[in-house]
Amino acid sequence: MAQEVRGVIAPGKDEPVRVETIVVPDPGPGEAVVRVQACGVCHTDLHYKQGGISDDFPFLLGHEAAGVVESVGEGVTDVAPGDSVILNWRAVCGNCRACLRGRPWYCFNTHNAKQKMTLTDGTELSPALGIGAFAEKTLVAAGQCTKVDPAVSPAVAGLLGCGVMAGIGAAINTGGVGRGDCVAVIGCGGVGDAAIAGANLAGAAKIIAVDIDDRKLDQARTLGATHTVNSKATDPVAAIRELTGGFGADVVIEAVGRPETYEQAFYARDLAGTVVLVGVPTPEMKLELPLLDVFGRGGALKSSWYGDCLPSRDFPMLIDLHLQGRLPLDAFVTETVRLDEVEKAFERMHHGDVLRSVVVL
Ligand code: APR
Ligand code: ZN
Ligand code: ZN
Repeated sequence: MAQEVRGVIAPGKDEPVRVETIVVPDPGPGEAVVRVQACGVCHTDLHYKQGGISDDFPFLLGHEAAGVVESVGEGVTDVAPGDSVILNWRAVCGNCRACLRGRPWYCFNTHNAKQKMTLTDGTELSPALGIGAFAEKTLVAAGQCTKVDPAVSPAVAGLLGCGVMAGIGAAINTGGVGRGDCVAVIGCGGVGDAAIAGANLAGAAKIIAVDIDDRKLDQARTLGATHTVNSKATDPVAAIRELTGGFGADVVIEAVGRPETYEQAFYARDLAGTVVLVGVPTPEMKLELPLLDVFGRGGALKSSWYGDCLPSRDFPMLIDLHLQGRLPLDAFVTETVRLDEVEKAFERMHHGDVLRSVVVL
C-alpha cells in the first residue's frame, strides 16, 4: 500500500519551499522505503530550489540523510527492514569499466528508484540527488542504502551522505594525505572543515586553515586546524609558504569553488604537491595558469567527486571512528530544525551562520 507522509517541496524556481503531503509507493524490485530520521540542509538543496540544477520542478528536497529501512522490494538482500542506513546519491552497477577499476563514483550505469513519489494529485516529484529525504519516508534504490552501526546519532550519520564525506574524502581519498604532511585547506565551511578533520585523522603534522571569516577560522581550530590565515587580511600563499619553511603544503584543498582560490591553492603547494578541487565551480568560471609553472612544479591537480568515496567502505569506517571518539562529527551540527523550518535554515546558510542545520524527524 502506498503511504502518505509529509515532505518538503520546492514548487517552482525561487519559490519558497513548503511542507506537503506526498505519496510514497511500496518498494518495487531493487527498491527500499526508508523512514528518515535526520537530513542535513546542503547548498545543493538551495541550488535545486533556485532552479540552478534542473527545471524538473517540483523537487522533493533533502539528500544528506540517515534513517531506518522500513521495507524492501523483491531481490533486495544487502539491507533489511530495521537496518540503520546512510543514503547515498546513486546506486552503482558494480560491472562497468569505472566500477571494475575501483572508481564506482564515476559509474556509467548508476540508478535511483524506478518508481516515482508523487503529490496527492498524482504530480510526479523529482527527488534531490535521487534521494528526497526532507520527508518522513522516502523511496530509494536499495543500493543507495549503506548499513551503519545503529548506535550513532542519525543527525551526525546523515552528514556523511554528502558534504562531510566530500570533505573528508577530498583529504584522505583524493588528496592521499599521509602522516606528517603539511596540509592547507582554503574555505572552511562544512566541506573545508570536514577536509580538516580528514587531514587530522590521516595524521597531518600541520593543518593550515584559510578563510575570509574569523568565525570560520575559530571553528576550524576545533576540528584540527593547527594554524589559521584570514585571506582578507593576509596573502594566503605567502602565509602558507612561511608556515611550511618556505616550501608550501604537500596537499592543498580548495573548498570554495572559485578561480582565485584555486589559483591560491596552485601556488601554495610544495614542489610535487597535490591540489584538490572540491569546491564546485560554475560553468562560466575559467582559470589561466602559466604552463611552465604547471610543468615546473610537478605534482598533481585533482578534483574530488563525492570525496571519491566508496560508501560501503567509507561510511561504516567513519561512523566507527566517530563512535570511538576519534572523529568529532557532532561539531558539524550547528542546529537541528523541523521539516517546516527548511526555508529558515536556507536563510542562515546564506548568511554563513551555520556549518550544518539538520532536519530531525
Ligand atoms: N577565500 C577563502 N575562503 C572563502 C572565500 C575566499 N575567497 N570565499 C568564501 N570563503 C569561505 C566562506 O567564508 C565559507 O566559510 O568558504 C567557505 C564556504 O563554505 P560554505 O558556504 O559553508 O560551503 P560548503 O558547504 O563548505 O561547500 C564549499 O564545496 O562541495 C562544494 O558546492 C560546495 O562549492 C561548495 C564548496
Ligand atoms: Zn549535499
Ligand atoms: Zn558501474
